[in-house]
Amino acid sequence: MVAPKVVVTGGAGFIGSHTCKALAGAGFLPVTVDNLSNGVAEAVKWGPLEVGSLEDPGFLDDVFRRHKPVAVLHFAASIEAGESMKVPAKFYRNNVAGTMALTEAMARAGISVLIFSSTAAVYGNSEVMPITEALPLLPVNPYGRSKLMSETILADLAATTDLRFTTLRYFNASGADPEGDLGENHQPETHLIPLVLQAAYGIRPSIKIFGNDYDTPDGTCIRDYIHVSDLAHAHLLALRRLLGGGDSAQMNLGTGKGFSVREIVKTTAAVTGRQINAIDEARRPGDPAVLVADAAMARQVLGWTPRFTDVQDHIRHAAGWMERKMAQPEVLTA
Ligand code: UFG
Repeated sequence: MVAPKVVVTGGAGFIGSHTCKALAGAGFLPVTVDNLSNGVAEAVKWGPLEVGSLEDPGFLDDVFRRHKPVAVLHFAASIEAGESMKVPAKFYRNNVAGTMALTEAMARAGISVLIFSSTAAVYGNSEVMPITEALPLLPVNPYGRSKLMSETILADLAATTDLRFTTLRYFNASGADPEGDLGENHQPETHLIPLVLQAAYGIRPSIKIFGNDYDTPDGTCIRDYIHVSDLAHAHLLALRRLLGGGDSAQMNLGTGKGFSVREIVKTTAAVTGRQINAIDEARRPGDPAVLVADAAMARQVLGWTPRFTDVQDHIRHAAGWMERKMAQPEVLTA
């Protein structure tokens, strides 16, 4: 049987590449569409790579015509909340205009199934924990607003066309492929676990702890770290459900367990057996104290349960990836 093709925008990025591996393992052929502005071609290992921009309608029409995908998974986006405070236009262009251009090309090609990458940032500073999908959507930065706008566009299109979508709101993606095929390659890196690992391996002198006076047990921020392979599996389940005729839906993906910044530093020191120089710094603007998901809806609707709920596993897998990358030091300059 010929493997059904799916187009994966951002398939050369962190979560997109891990999802391509899961898709290929389940009998799909992932066709990556990526402009390689953040993604890396080496992460595209399970299907063809089409390099181009979502905003080039001729490019998307050509990709859809040649590959005839049964669905699209849309990861390509600008993702740094901090950066979005400085250059909001980039986020509205890449995330909102990019999603519009993609849905228009899908409509022209008659493709009606879409899995959309969203974020916990659409909830803003929720005081209610854990966060359910019923809470108000009040993003506090252009990144979160760009994702919420895209979610709104999809809902409006689904109400008036044959588009069916699943929006997945990720909490803090982390870890790396347990088999060592893939890992995190952000340039520059801003995420906590890879930065703490860089401090552990001496790639950077220290890790800054942004804020020690939050209203949390140890004063540092708490996040729900969701393993990238568990995220990938959720996409596969969401895809199968939509291809089987399922309705549009939006849901959180997290473990329901939170870990503080200090706990991450301590666990990383224990996992790697290395000393980590952690320096307390001022709060980073825009950081909510606690973000923890209620993922009951994903459990019920998708039958999804995260496999890696112990953050030690995330750190171990990410450390394994970093050790392999240390053989190529130019990739890791801090
Ligand atoms: N942190 C530090 N020092 C650092 C880096 C981070 O103390 O050098 C802290 C942050 O202040 C925060 C926590 O570690 O409290 C996690 O920070 P990350 O930058 O790793 O992740 P964020 O929670 O800021 O954001 C991530 C993604 C967003 C997504 C969000 C959803 O980057 O795209 O998770 O929860 F929207």
